[in-house]
Amino acid sequence: MRRAVCPGSFDPVTNGHLDIVQRASTLFDEVVVAVGVNQSKNRLFNAEERIAMLEQACAPFPNVRVDGFKGLLTSFCQEHGIHAIVKGLRAVSDFDYELQMAQMNSSLTDVETVFVPTSPEYSFLASSLVKEVATFGGDVSGLIPDFVNTALLARLAERAAQSGGA
Ligand code: PNS
Repeated sequence: MRRAVCPGSFDPVTNGHLDIVQRASTLFDEVVVAVGVNQSKNRLFNAEERIAMLEQACAPFPNVRVDGFKGLLTSFCQEHGIHAIVKGLRAVSDFDYELQMAQMNSSLTDVETVFVPTSPEYSFLASSLVKEVATFGGDVSGLIPDFVNTALLARLAERAAQSGGA
């Protein structure tokens, strides 16, 4: 069984993430989308919400499942018998940090990182930018699944109401 992990924060999942997951699902027998649930103050969606969104978005891919992980990614790989980490590379600027992480991860356990070039139409896409653009009223439909866009707009409206009422 060739099993790979697609790790990330996915706050929220974008069409760029899903493109990488879908392509990874054609390269491996099983793909685990691993949602990092380490504590961070800056998340818009909590771990359960991010996992639920990925489960819905990945439902069309029969050999993909979604899980959360805490701590080191390499520990998750060891616990799940995973020897490949799939990462999307959008641009050369992604490469330095991704290479460093790949080398660190392979020094920690028996795992290879497989870099998949992002499809050109998603090369500018990042969850952080999606959130920023949507916060200021920009249209991000087409960059994220429709149901994620709905959840994003609802969450941003909640946040705006909270900060307006403070
Ligand atoms: O979507 P992101 O934020 O780029 O995902 C980063 C993630 C979660 C894949 C990365 O931060 C990670 O692997 N975190 C787990 C902690 C860990 O293993 N750190 C050592 C990396 S060499």
